[in-house]
Amino acid sequence: MSRARAVTHPNIALSKYWGKRAGEGNMPAVPSLSVALSGMHTETVCEVLPSLAEDELVLDGGPMAANGRERCAALLDRVRARVDSPARARVVSRNDFPTGAGLASSASGFAALALAAVRAYGLDASIAEVSDLARRSSASAARSLFGGFAELAPPPDAGATFLAATPLAGPDAVPLRVLVCVVTESAKDVPSTAGMNRTRDHSPFYAAWLDEAPRVHAALRAALLAGDLPGVGELAERSALAMHASAIAAGVIYFGAPTLAILSAVRGLRARGIGAWATIDAGPHVKVLVDEADRARVASALHGIPGVLRVIEARPAAAPTVEVTP
Ligand code: PMV
Repeated sequence: MSRARAVTHPNIALSKYWGKRAGEGNMPAVPSLSVALSGMHTETVCEVLPSLAEDELVLDGGPMAANGRERCAALLDRVRARVDSPARARVVSRNDFPTGAGLASSASGFAALALAAVRAYGLDASIAEVSDLARRSSASAARSLFGGFAELAPPPDAGATFLAATPLAGPDAVPLRVLVCVVTESAKDVPSTAGMNRTRDHSPFYAAWLDEAPRVHAALRAALLAGDLPGVGELAERSALAMHASAIAAGVIYFGAPTLAILSAVRGLRARGIGAWATIDAGPHVKVLVDEADRARVASALHGIPGVLRVIEARPAAAPTVEVTP
């Protein structure tokens, strides 16, 4: 038994996952394509300690909240079942960005936990198997096992139980920089699973979203592989707005006043010929996609917007790392 330390990056979806397939297994209903972000990290140490009566789970310096604890323990149970070990673990995890606020902390968090737990328990698993394990806790986490750009397709058939993300392109596929505008340090009101379920059950536009998402995804994938950054940016903004339109129609509103102010500033920049595009996840923050060459002037425009607390400058990240210590 040993100890492993994993460092992962959050990822943001350029074409969004929003909605689950019916049935068990946390399977996405639509394909998604993401970029891993450098400059933001989750560091998770998992130590297998047979002397513990139950798992000890620490997040950002304090005991993990009940909901997070259950989801982490469920992941650890899956690993334990595979190696046939009853031993409990101490897990200490830290994010260097706000947790649970729509900045993809669940993506990097479950990816880091899956990677550290698999190595600490000595499970011989490929990266695809670790991605499948992370997906069961948070589908977007499946994509954080890879650097650069990654994809997560819906399962090929209704009976599928295994589903991993796949790497699509390295960090230099396009000269992309991501300016993450942080507008609150607090956790979001509606977790993404609750938001997706409410959208599925109450949005008159959910069917339209399920129809549109694969088309935007295919076009975005082609633009990325062609190195067409303006195409990627336009399609990413289209995907985010379609996702939020379907959610808003069900009363699931993640936007705040600063979200709208940033969206408007991004449109103003574009009207002046500057390539800047916005994407928004299940929270009020806006991630602005820019060409490397425009990074400095777009960042200075974003810093001046009321409600923007800080701007994290990220670029496509390298793959996660993991080290095992006996
Ligand atoms: O993986 P979850 O359950 O945290 O859902 C992620 C949903 C979005 O961040 C809004 C979109 C995505 O593809 O990451």
